[in-house]
Formats: sequence, C-alpha cells, structure tokens
Amino acid sequence: MSAPRITIAEAARHVGETVSVPGWLYNMRKSGKIVFPLLRDGTGLMQCVAVKSALPEAVFETIKDLTQESSLIMTGKIRADERAAGGYEMDVESIEVIQRVPESDPYPITPKEHGVDFLMDHRHLWLRSQHQHAIARVRHEVIKAVRDYFDSNGFTLVDTPIFTPAACEGTTTLFEVNYFDDDKAYLTQSGQLYNEATAMAFGKVYCFGPTFRAEKSKTRRHLTEFWMVEPEMAFATLEDVKRVGEELLIHTVKRVLENRQPELKLLGRDLSKLQAIQAPFPRISYDEAVKILQSKGSEIKWGGDFGNTDETLLTQDYDRPLLVDRYPSHIKAFYFQPDLERPEVALAVDVLAPEGHGEIIGGGQRVHDPDLLLKRIQDEGLPMDAFQWYIDLRKYGTVPHGGFGMGIERCVGWICGIEHVRETIAFPRMLYRLRP
Ligand code: 4AD
Ligand code: MG
Repeated sequence: MSAPRITIAEAARHVGETVSVPGWLYNMRKSGKIVFPLLRDGTGLMQCVAVKSALPEAVFETIKDLTQESSLIMTGKIRADERAAGGYEMDVESIEVIQRVPESDPYPITPKEHGVDFLMDHRHLWLRSQHQHAIARVRHEVIKAVRDYFDSNGFTLVDTPIFTPAACEGTTTLFEVNYFDDDKAYLTQSGQLYNEATAMAFGKVYCFGPTFRAEKSKTRRHLTEFWMVEPEMAFATLEDVKRVGEELLIHTVKRVLENRQPELKLLGRDLSKLQAIQAPFPRISYDEAVKILQSKGSEIKWGGDFGNTDETLLTQDYDRPLLVDRYPSHIKAFYFQPDLERPEVALAVDVLAPEGHGEIIGGGQRVHDPDLLLKRIQDEGLPMDAFQWYIDLRKYGTVPHGGFGMGIERCVGWICGIEHVRETIAFPRMLYRLRP
C-alpha cells in the first residue's frame, strides 16, 4: 500500500506515520553517512534525514546526488523536532525523483548573493525563495482582509472596465490601445468614474482590479501596472472617506498581525511598528503640511505638490498613517469637489504611510453639481462626448458622494517593511521592466 500524500503544513497531524511529500529540493546539507535534504512544497520547509546504513544503497546515492530544485516525492516517517525549521522532520524511507536538475545547467539562483537585476530577470524562479513566498502570503492576506472589510460593511463588489474611452487621472499617463476600426481605447487608470455610476445604483460599492499608468517615473513606489481597491459611497462627504480609509487600514494591519506573523518575522519586520497602527490617525490640512515642511527645511511653497522626500519628512514624527486633506484644487484631478468656503482647495485626502512608505491612499469628495462638473471638464480640456454618461449622473438624482483608491502594492510594501514595490507583486511592470 502506498503512503498517504500530505503537504508539509499538514505534518503535525501525521507524527509517527509514514507519508509521502511531493516537493522540490530547496537545499541539502551533507555530513558523511547522513544527508539532510531540505524540502519545500509551497506550504513550508521540512528537513529530511537520510541515513546511509538505514537505506538501500541506490536510494541513499540518489538522494545524495540530488541537485537544487529537483522535483521529487519523498517518503518517510514524520518526527517532531523542536530544533527543525517548521518543527517536524522526516526520516527518509524512499524517494521518487520526478526530474533531477542536471549539473550541466544548474538552478541559477544559489544561496549566495545575487544582484537585484539578475533576480528580476529570473523573477519566475526567484518567486520560489522563502522571502518572496512570505511577501506573497502577506499580499494574499491583505487582499483578503480588504475584501472582508468591504464585504462586511455593506459594500457591493462591482468590477469596472479595463478598456476605457477617456482618462480619469490625467492624460499624461495613459496607455493607448488599438480598438477595432481605428478607434482608440485606453487602459484604465482607475475604476472611480464607473464606481460613481454604480454607487448611484447601489449605494456603497467597491471595485478591485489592475490599473495602469504610463508613469515615466523610476521610483521605488511606481509600477506601470498595479492593483487598486476603490470604494465609492453615495451620500458621503470627505469626513466619511477619511473614516473608511482609517478603518480599512486598521482592519488590514490587524488581520496580517493575526495570521501572518511567521512571514513578517521572516522578513525581519519590526512588529511593534504594526501594533501601533490604531485609531485615531493624525489629521492635518495641506496648509499645515506646507508649514511643517518649511520648518523642516523643504523648499515647498503653497500650491506645490509633495515629492517623495516631502512625504517622508511629513510622516517622520508619527507612528501611524497621516491624513492630509484640502489640497490646492489645481494639483488634483478634475472630479474633486471644491471646499465651498475656500474654493481654491479640493475636498481631497491623501493617506501617507509611516516609515517613508509614502501615499497609500488617495481620494475625497466628488463634484456633484452638474454645472460645476461641466466647467471642470471644459477647463481641463477633456473630451466632453466621452464624459456624457458621467455628467448624466449629476442630472438624475445627484448627491454628495466620495471614495478613495488604495494601491495594494504600496500597502503590502509598507506592511512588510520592504523598500521597493517591485517585490510586492509576482511579475512587476515598470518603466524598464516588461519581462519575464
Ligand atoms: O491617488 P491616485 O492616483 O487616485 C486615484 O486613482 C483615484 N481615482 C482613486 C479613487 O478615488 N477612487 O491613486 C490611488 C492610490 C495611491 O494612493 C497609491 O497607493 C496607488 O493608488 N498608486 C500607485 N501604486 C503603484 N504605482 C503607481 N504608479 C501608482 N499610482 C497610484
Ligand atoms: Mg494620489
């Protein structure tokens, strides 16, 4: 009878039993008449122990000659061992090799240090490392937490189109695609405008999908393709937007702390920094932010947009995300509602993550007055025909409404404490990176 097949994560329930674990050889230590193949299977790592005197010679030799990333099915008895990675070891009884990676063309990523360009070129293989696995699992947890937050707070998921006829976030970062019969389409920069339609239909909605920006910026925060979650609420003001953004971040960080501590520890993340993410988040206005920056030596003047350095300077004094609101209208998108008491500022809010991770959330209240919206579209020189449907929303039962977008990669980068967003998505797309 063949042994039952299990994953490494299930080892705890099979102590004392002989089982088979399919996986790959992660590493191997050799010590004379004993070899210690370290197996990985996507659920964890398990050290195996193969003793020469306890095995048929051919089996021992096969194991001893295994090469990194060879695929195999290892069979043996599970034993609890506190010192072992994962807490369990396998005393090997037999092995089935699926593919032995030949020495003539060995697995290119070795335990030694590699440069980041080399690793990025081998991203399809780099994903097998423990570090990348931990980041991917935190990302999964973040996405699940985000969905759970909206699903349990009355939001309906309504996905928005990826081919769009017009810009949402400025015409300079559009990716153009040919769309039948000489028509042009653009890859979506944000689902927001469509979210506004569905919010008028369903009240509270969110979309969650890939978004695209032809960003010529080569910073550690910019991707050309990133995933954004965007809630939108009818009958909502800037204050509601701020409250929901704060709740979402607290909920998400709490979930990751509950379920992904081993991954965070593997990444060397200081957990106390995440435990500090509690309400209330500090709230300041753009005006105050400019004064703070000037007092810290920044060259910024009222009316200017914050650069990465400004954002880092601003968040230095806080241990939790900082909400900055009421930006000058001219540096924000056309759809923002102006503050009626101070029309030169927009009811917009950015949430800046601590520790220099920059803007993770951007949003605010939308123009709901039809005449004002027409004027904004004209002033920006946007194509009126492409926006007719959007203007309709203001003609038929317009209400104050608002929402925001959170970039998943920036959020994951912050929670994991990693420098560059390129490691927070499996196959990053950037100015100089379209492969693999
Ligand atoms: O501030 P942004 O451009 O806002 C919007 O797109 C709104 N329409 C969202 C809305 O209100 N529904 O982008 C929102 C967030 C940013 O705060 C950031 O986290 C992320 O999306 N983001 C990027 N992430 C990675 N690479 C880029 N190039 C990004 N651009 C924005
Ligand atoms: Mg923004």
